[in-house]
Amino acid sequence: MSIEKIKKICVLGAGTMGHGIAQLFAMSGYEVWMRDIEQGILDNAIKRITWSLKKLHEKGRLKETPEQILSRIHPTLSMEEACKEADFIIEVVPEILDLKKKVFSEADKLAPLHAIIATNTSSLPITEIAEATNRPEKVIGMHFFNPPVIMKLVEVIKGQKTADEVVKVTIELAKKLGKEPVLVKKDSPGFIVNRILGAIIHEAIWAIERGEYSIEEIDSATRFKANMPMGVFELIDFIGIDVTYHMMKAMMERGVKFVIPKSFEDKAKSNELGVKSGKGYYMYPAPGKYMKPSISAKAGSKVDIIKLLSPAVNEAAKLLDDDVASLEDIDKAVKLGLNFPNGIFEMADLFGLDLVVNSLNKLKSERGFNLYESAQILAKMVQEGHLGRKTGKGFYEYKIEEKVLDTIKVRYELPIAWVILNRPDKLNALNNKMLDELEATFKELDRDERVRVIILMGEGKAFCAGADVKAFENMTGVDAFKFSRRIQEVFEAIEKTSKPVIAAVHGYALGGGLELAMACDIRIFAESALVGQPEINLGIIPGAAGTQKLARLIGVGKAKELIFLGDMIPADEAERLGLANKVVLTSELELEARKMGLRIAEKPALTLMIAKYIIDYGKDVAEAIGKALEALGFGLARSTEDATEGIKAFLEKRKPKFTGK
Ligand code: COA
Repeated sequence: MSIEKIKKICVLGAGTMGHGIAQLFAMSGYEVWMRDIEQGILDNAIKRITWSLKKLHEKGRLKETPEQILSRIHPTLSMEEACKEADFIIEVVPEILDLKKKVFSEADKLAPLHAIIATNTSSLPITEIAEATNRPEKVIGMHFFNPPVIMKLVEVIKGQKTADEVVKVTIELAKKLGKEPVLVKKDSPGFIVNRILGAIIHEAIWAIERGEYSIEEIDSATRFKANMPMGVFELIDFIGIDVTYHMMKAMMERGVKFVIPKSFEDKAKSNELGVKSGKGYYMYPAPGKYMKPSISAKAGSKVDIIKLLSPAVNEAAKLLDDDVASLEDIDKAVKLGLNFPNGIFEMADLFGLDLVVNSLNKLKSERGFNLYESAQILAKMVQEGHLGRKTGKGFYEYKIEEKVLDTIKVRYELPIAWVILNRPDKLNALNNKMLDELEATFKELDRDERVRVIILMGEGKAFCAGADVKAFENMTGVDAFKFSRRIQEVFEAIEKTSKPVIAAVHGYALGGGLELAMACDIRIFAESALVGQPEINLGIIPGAAGTQKLARLIGVGKAKELIFLGDMIPADEAERLGLANKVVLTSELELEARKMGLRIAEKPALTLMIAKYIIDYGKDVAEAIGKALEALGFGLARSTEDATEGIKAFLEKRKPKFTGK
């Protein structure tokens, strides 16, 4: 059958999903028979469709009037009327296998022989449902996400006997509805989205169970470190604790090795089930009334996000092992079905696959579940040294070039360039050669249009322990004056780079090391960072702008304290003082810097440059002049093509595509 032959659609079930699916087909021009067992349900469905069409019409998102679209939806109580002459039937009854089988068996008897019968299940086996019919080759899974009118993703699931032609037509049909279908090649438990979501939820509830983290810490980390739209527990509340429990149970019955802690099972059987009860993990204003819980970004800063998400990466990788879906479709499903900013494999490459496997091993020994056995593909990639972005190859390939100079290394991981101080045996102490190489490198990177963000790090156990003290030994006062001017000049070249520069600081950042970090736009400190201006102990003062920059950054009093005492302060104190933008786990420093770099690199390049320029040049002048600069910069930013695109994209409710022009 070809898609052109599909004229009459039949939707069996008019509940939450059913009415939305019926509306969707009608919006795409199909005649739709919507069947349910009670007139009240049908009336309610029509009421909700009418409301939704009106809203879409007001927003100018419909090609026709709501009345025209509604005239194509035919509510009915008769199974016979709904199925006869139907070309495509989609079943949307509650997730009870026997009920679905009954509906399929009836539909099979009533529908024309050529009709495809799809099931909108999120967890039940297509193959088994198909067995209730005499046309298993025409039975397929078509899993929409809630609300179907809005959510772009459709999982198209091939049952054991589903014909290729039926798969092809269903995929075309989903596209015709304006959706982005992904193909689930095998009838695997939870398909793509729920399998991965299940693994995330499983890990979160076990971390709580074992007292490793609090609910707020986990939700903060998922929201602010993984940039997911909701915290895990917030999401469980949203879905319903009971629904989540049943979803996981259904996967377990079909072979997924989750283990549900008793406390979660008890919660699922209580009357505090999440948003719908007005209380779950969080409190809500009233039953059914959702309000986003307020969660601090800081609460999750100590959560090991790689450990939390490694089981999800593993389940996704097992889907590859079993050839359930393609890499691209899995990532697409995660982005469109869960609204994650990145696909699960994109995230894994960012984390580093070695760290993912280490976390799985750690979890296996801590919790003892077979679930954590590494997927074959994951173990193989680690064995072969394909560890993700950092090695240029993981689930995806990345182009990486490295330039090794005498004292620094430059890694081009476009759009990011990493500048790595490379005198680890001297704790990256700054000598003349390093100053020359830093200056030349930053000037070159500034000119290189492929580079959007620069990250500065230190090799070995320190960021940088300052200027090379050896060089001071035989310096005259005039030499020292010249040296100070020289180091100031080089750091100024870094500061004046037109691109954002991030310092990723671990271990010591002392004297010139701290001043170097202060020449960068943003400073991320690892927990291990120890920073200070110890020059006083050598009988000198900071000479690379420390006296000026510290006073401006943390205030005169604190700057004097640091410089007079020459003490080293730990990362959290540096953060309190405003020296660090944020403090992260030492193991996650590179990841956090890369994540921030990639996020900044997505922003409009010229506008970033203008913002940096105005902030840097405006901060030391009278406010009125700074404001005049800002207004000029505002005008200049508006004149970019990216501003035109950004404003247009906002109004069209889509993500902007910035080109840097
Ligand atoms: N200049 C030159 N060499 C330096 C240096 C600097 N600023 N900082 C560290 N090094 C060298 C050390 O001399 C040592 O070299 P060696 O192995 O050849 O002896 C090597 O780096 C490792 O340092 P080490 O002192 O052994 O490490 P540590 O962990 O015991 O102590 C510090 C680390 C940072 C506390 C200590 O090295 C230090 O105080 N450095 C000087 C910091 C400073 O005053 N900076 C401001 C300069 S203006």
